[in-house]
Amino acid sequence: MAEGGRKAFVCGHPVAHSRSPMIHSHWLQQFGVAGSYTAQDVAPGYLPNFLASFPERGFVGGNVTIPHKEAAFALVAQRDEAAELIGAVNTLWRQEGALHGGNTDAYGFAANLDEKVSCWAKSRSAVVLGAGGAARAVVFALQQRGIADVRIVNRTVERARDLSYRFRGGVTGHPWDALADLLPDADLLVNTTSLGMHGEDATVPNLENLPEHAIVTDIVYVPLQTPLLAAAAARGLKTVDGLGMLLHQAVPGFERWFGIRPTVMPELRSIIVADLETRA
Ligand code: ATR
Repeated sequence: MAEGGRKAFVCGHPVAHSRSPMIHSHWLQQFGVAGSYTAQDVAPGYLPNFLASFPERGFVGGNVTIPHKEAAFALVAQRDEAAELIGAVNTLWRQEGALHGGNTDAYGFAANLDEKVSCWAKSRSAVVLGAGGAARAVVFALQQRGIADVRIVNRTVERARDLSYRFRGGVTGHPWDALADLLPDADLLVNTTSLGMHGEDATVPNLENLPEHAIVTDIVYVPLQTPLLAAAAARGLKTVDGLGMLLHQAVPGFERWFGIRPTVMPELRSIIVADLETRA
């Protein structure tokens, strides 16, 4: 890596698992950009200090990951529209002397689907499993792309309803046991929960009621083929895994810090897939 170039970071706690350094280093190398992108482990108590002092340490900006996205939202001076509505910040930069925060998760979610199944945005209704921070980014993306009927289904129904109230009309909250009734006219099913990440296959919802044209996507990418995607594929439905969202969400940040808009190519995906397999 060349010395003296622009420096960016991903801050999280822990942060060693983050694949963002591999993604950005790949692009830096591809474009021959003198710069660096490194992981910074920042314990929660140090986040305010880290965000205030990163310019002095030579960084132009960076990404924010778990568990700092909501805290970073509160600490920035300016936010973009996505961050404002999602209530979380994953991308930081300085502009006119002020700390700015954006959220590129919704962009990454939509760009991944655009790449894999471009017809997805014609969906009239979508079911979103989960009502946490990840669901907020997904619902924002669905609304932004004009999907009129978005149904949030969550184990804790109050969280689903609370989340639906953050958005303008067309978003509703439902309990988990309403799923069977909500699936028959759903064009798109999105999982944002950690369901199946720990091998609890029994809790994967029954997909029998989904129409044949439905698209099923998971934002979880460890494992790459989640039990939900496996069940959907077994039924012959179109599936999209969550790795593309991770790759695409990195694009706007790289462009902002290093001045070149990268493209998500199969080679980059292969590098991250190989890393996921190594660490599995
Ligand atoms: P994130 O910010 O990554 O979305 P989160 O805020 O902790 O994380 O949200 C996790 C989501 O996964 C929640 O919707 C959670 O449901 P509850 O609100 O009822 O807790 C959901 N979730 C986690 N484990 C689950 C399980 N075994 N079955 C169903 N939903 C689960």
